[in-house]
Amino acid sequence: EKGGYDHFMLKEIHEQPEVIKDTYRGRMIVNEGIVKMASIDDHLEKFLNANRIIIVACGTSWHAGLVAEYIFEDLARVPVEVEYASEFRYRNPIITSKDVVIAISQSGETADTLAAIKLAKENGAFVYGVCNVVGSSIARETNSGAYTHAGPEIGVASTKAFTTQITVLALIALKLASEKGTVSKSELHQKLAELESMPRKIEEALKVDDHVKYISSIYKDAANFLYLGRGYNFPVALEGALKLKEISYIHAEGYPAAEMKHGPIALIDEQMPVVVIATKKGHYEKIISNIQEIKSRSGKIIAIVTEGDEDVRALADHVIEVPETSEALSPLVNTIPLQLLSYHIAVMRGCNVDQPRNLAKSVTVE
Ligand code: F6R
Repeated sequence: EKGGYDHFMLKEIHEQPEVIKDTYRGRMIVNEGIVKMASIDDHLEKFLNANRIIIVACGTSWHAGLVAEYIFEDLARVPVEVEYASEFRYRNPIITSKDVVIAISQSGETADTLAAIKLAKENGAFVYGVCNVVGSSIARETNSGAYTHAGPEIGVASTKAFTTQITVLALIALKLASEKGTVSKSELHQKLAELESMPRKIEEALKVDDHVKYISSIYKDAANFLYLGRGYNFPVALEGALKLKEISYIHAEGYPAAEMKHGPIALIDEQMPVVVIATKKGHYEKIISNIQEIKSRSGKIIAIVTEGDEDVRALADHVIEVPETSEALSPLVNTIPLQLLSYHIAVMRGCNVDQPRNLAKSVTVE
């Protein structure tokens, strides 16, 4: 049942190339630069006339929403807000019939997300779901939606659901961008080709496993971890920290790298491992100066870098190489080593990786 892997989580991490393919298959014609999503076509006016898109979700799905915010605003030029469902539903939020709400949920049963959807509908918004579990409550409650095709996710820590959510959301953003004309036909073609290449690049990224295991053995007893990223990779830093917290019980925080100097830098000393997403494209120079700030305070730097990188290697204690990607899709690849890092650390600490304490796969109570 675990397909030869020790845990469901590891199996699911390794399934990502395949399930990402399953998720985009039939939804794009790369050569023609076409995104085919009937669930968007059927409600195209709603999307094109929307004042804004509000994304509601919890946990890892909320992180996928944050990545989507960057993609939607960058490519489709539509304003996006990303909300914790639990905050949104109790805030007396301003919702109108000109809003499109996208609810993201692996299980499709998360109580707060479901309640946020009901509230949005009551206020006349159009609600679109991105769910993994077919026929789930959220899939049924939304006006329309698209499934991620991740297959059953058994490990409590979400892995393949996250990357397939980003895949669906990127397709939606590209669909809207093509309808609005905010990206050219050739750009669209190039971006779809890039999406098509992601399974191969993730396959490549998974090869860091042994090296990540070695790094894990060095830092497994750390009391704290920091995760830093900028732009598209800020949400990846949040997700890396969440994975480590939930399965290894090590306190970890994700931060936008530039926020360090506004407080968290006080935490840095030789006991503090800092995972920095420092791939090329997107604020590379800025990230290098953030790394220097950490290094000069003796923090231990574990950097995720683009293959062949020399500049970060010269500064970091450890580098983990991943294939080069466009900035917009880099979260799909950069997440992989962070999933593996949390996995190996948790295993080395003797934690129950697939069923961490205090957590449930579906959070059906608020
Ligand atoms: C993290 C995790 C949780 C879920 C959250 C939302 O690994 O599993 O944070 O992401 O409970 O769940 P769904 O996506 O089912 O709504």
